[in-house]
Amino acid sequence: MNTTFLQACKGEKTDYTPIWIMRQAGRYLPEYHTVRSTCTFLELCKSPDKAAEVTLQPVDILGVDAAILFSDILVPLEKMGAPLEFQEKRGPIFPTPIRDQKAVDNLGIPDPEDDLGYVMDTIRILVKELKDRVPLIGFSGAPFTLATYLIEGGSSKNFLNTKRMIFEAPGLYKNLLDKITDCTIEYLKGQAAAGVQALQIFDSWAGVLSPCDFEVAAIPYVRRIISALREVTDVPIIYFANNGATLIEQSLTSKPDVLGIDWRVDLAEVVRRVDGKASIQGNMDPLSLFLPDNELEKRVTSVLEQAKGARGHVFNLGHGIVPETDPEKAKLAVKLVHEISRKMRG
Ligand code: CP3
Repeated sequence: MNTTFLQACKGEKTDYTPIWIMRQAGRYLPEYHTVRSTCTFLELCKSPDKAAEVTLQPVDILGVDAAILFSDILVPLEKMGAPLEFQEKRGPIFPTPIRDQKAVDNLGIPDPEDDLGYVMDTIRILVKELKDRVPLIGFSGAPFTLATYLIEGGSSKNFLNTKRMIFEAPGLYKNLLDKITDCTIEYLKGQAAAGVQALQIFDSWAGVLSPCDFEVAAIPYVRRIISALREVTDVPIIYFANNGATLIEQSLTSKPDVLGIDWRVDLAEVVRRVDGKASIQGNMDPLSLFLPDNELEKRVTSVLEQAKGARGHVFNLGHGIVPETDPEKAKLAVKLVHEISRKMRG
């Protein structure tokens, strides 16, 4: 097994900088479309053989150093009792938003094996398939990000309903978040028991919060998840707060092994602020994959240079790869990260 990714997460020396790409299994790959054309997105998430197949595609095609389970952060919410739809072009929809105590009371805590067995089965297939290859990353959404989808009923522009609940009904908001947190702890424990070798918590919308609200409405729940996981597993835990350069010191209080960083900030500054308390993951602009090859090489070199003083560095894009990306460019980025980082060490 190529353990370079796990070593970098733990801050151990590596021969080169490992790379994986957020949303590496997805619509930019023609091979993904082939599988996806046979079913809906949710059916794909719920078919262990197909989900495992698309998880493996970027490992085969790009040569990345880790696989990430193919699923979606919203899948466990459906099993809490919130019906979920994915509409073409509109994204995820919860037709019945959660906005009062009765709705919160009606949510349950799914059992990972009984209710989300298809995720656990996908993991078990992948652990076997990847045995001699690369580690498997499991994941969840962070409670704040998950709550925004439940409260808004889908994606949102300004998160009005979520912020109103935080400001006008803090007790109700806390009850909802406590329930999502309990669900997430069980779900991630289940993934670790099924065999994932690392876990990433996606806080895609953390950056819409001012620091004082992040302190109350988001990070305490992440802290609780990571400390609960520490009691049962030592797999590295990555916390990614998108648009979170303003929240780095606060994010570190959740004690992740790795802090995921978006592209809006210079990594050298992040390295200083993190000060050896965690490894760093990131942070090339996903749209850099549209640069000419020689310019892409300069970008890769610059991110690697900026990360030099980090305890450990996992190369990644600063957010998900976009569907319009040419897979050849992603392949080139992986090759460049491997070659250039090896040379830098030599
Ligand atoms: O390769 C991987 O990274 C693993 C698979 C993965 C998906 N979603 C597949 C997916 C992961 C890790 C996610 C996480 C996810 N899902 C997040 C957090 C990461 C982030 O981007 O910030 C969020 C916010 C979601 C919710 C979600 N799922 C939205 C808003 C959408 C619609 C917009 C979009 O990008 O399509 C999805 C759908 C989705 N999730 C697709 C995929 C491959 C596209 C579905 C399709 O095939 O039509």
